[in-house]
Amino acid sequence: MSTLAAAESTTAVNATAGELRLQVCAIIDETADARSLVFDVPEALRARFAYKPGQFLGFRVDVGGQCLTRCYSMSSSPWTDARPKVTIKRVAGGRVSNWMNQCVQVGDWLKVLPPAGHFCIDQHQAADTTRPLVLFGGGSGITPVFSLLKAVLHAGQRPVLLVYANRDEASVIFRDELRQLAKAHPEQLHVVHLLDTLQGFVDAPQVRQLVRLWRGADYFICGPGPFMDTVESTLLALGEARERIHVERFVSPPDPCSSGTAQPAIEAQGAVCELLLVELDGVTHQIVPRPGETLLHSCRAAGLDVPFSCEEGFCGACMCTVQEGQARLTRNDVLSSAELEAGWTLACQGHPQGARVRVKFPA
Ligand SMILES: Cc1cc2nc3c(=O)[nH]c(=O)nc-3n(C[C@H](O)[C@H](O)[C@H](O)COP(=O)(O)OP(=O)(O)OC[C@H]3O[C@@H](n4cnc5c(N)ncnc54)[C@H](O)[C@@H]3O)c2cc1C
Ligand code: FES
Repeated sequence: MSTLAAAESTTAVNATAGELRLQVCAIIDETADARSLVFDVPEALRARFAYKPGQFLGFRVDVGGQCLTRCYSMSSSPWTDARPKVTIKRVAGGRVSNWMNQCVQVGDWLKVLPPAGHFCIDQHQAADTTRPLVLFGGGSGITPVFSLLKAVLHAGQRPVLLVYANRDEASVIFRDELRQLAKAHPEQLHVVHLLDTLQGFVDAPQVRQLVRLWRGADYFICGPGPFMDTVESTLLALGEARERIHVERFVSPPDPCSSGTAQPAIEAQGAVCELLLVELDGVTHQIVPRPGETLLHSCRAAGLDVPFSCEEGFCGACMCTVQEGQARLTRNDVLSSAELEAGWTLACQGHPQGARVRVKFPA
């Protein structure tokens, strides 16, 4: 057990801080620079750690005297894997990804935030054969995509195309498992590997060619920024519906102490919100928010079980739409300008502006 983790409590819930901890029960070296961590979930935390394919876990780790929050998608599927597993690829100069790859050992306890995220599917969507599913994964972006893939293959006969881009052959994570899945589902699953060393970076003509027989699909894209931008913009240019294109952005938040992201005090910025209406699971709740509170704080203070994870504006777990009035964001590292235009906001960073504000959380 590493020294740092050994100093942690060996219980799953730290009673004083209400923090959740999970114990690493297995480590799998996937490639030279990526490893998977498998977690034991004690009976008492099973419900808290129930997840949908494609969701992620948040981790709070102490590295170099700083408490850093990072999200890692589950590469496991809840319907095929007994335990949750995350797969972490080293980022050059990256603090947490290298710490996770170097220092974590079997038996360590890590501080973990419950599963979150909207880059996911449910049982009904997984088995829906009315349209195919097209998955684009680049590098470590394969993790949530792999979870989705296993779930769909398990759920039914929905046709799936997986386009998986990597630097070179040695960096292909889950290569053997993918081969086995393709062999086991020859009619249903079509896998295309792209290697930068052979084909160069993915470009628009390649994307058009790849999806030509799969038009009208639901698309899930995760990978490096330029890869996702190319795929997404090409699909949109082809006329694919925006609401059927799902994107997961792998970003780190700014450092807790970084001054560049400091925001002005919100209390001074606009009219005090007198009534906050929150639509959650088809029910509208009325809340009188306290001045300066975020939407998330108001919801939680009112006892609403709204989704969230990082609370720092970079994971997107708390996304909701503003239906009436406005919400001012203090920080946003995840929503695109198109999403902002479409009314999306982040509950953890959004402050209601105007006497009456209504927000809606997606089902
Ligand atoms: C929803 C979600 C899911 C994710 N899922 C996965 C996953 O499944 N697998 C995975 O591998 N990753 C995943 N990520 C990405 C992951 O959370 C981290 O962003 C990634 O591991 C890098 O974190 P890090 O601490 O190692 O890097 P950081 O320390 O944050 O560094 C990132 C980059 O910034 C540079 N840098 C660091 N400090 C400084 C500084 N002070 N000044 C200037 N530059 C600096 C580093 O050199 C590096 O290039 C996910 C992210 C999100 C939001
Ligand atoms: S909880 Fe992560 S962006 Fe709001």
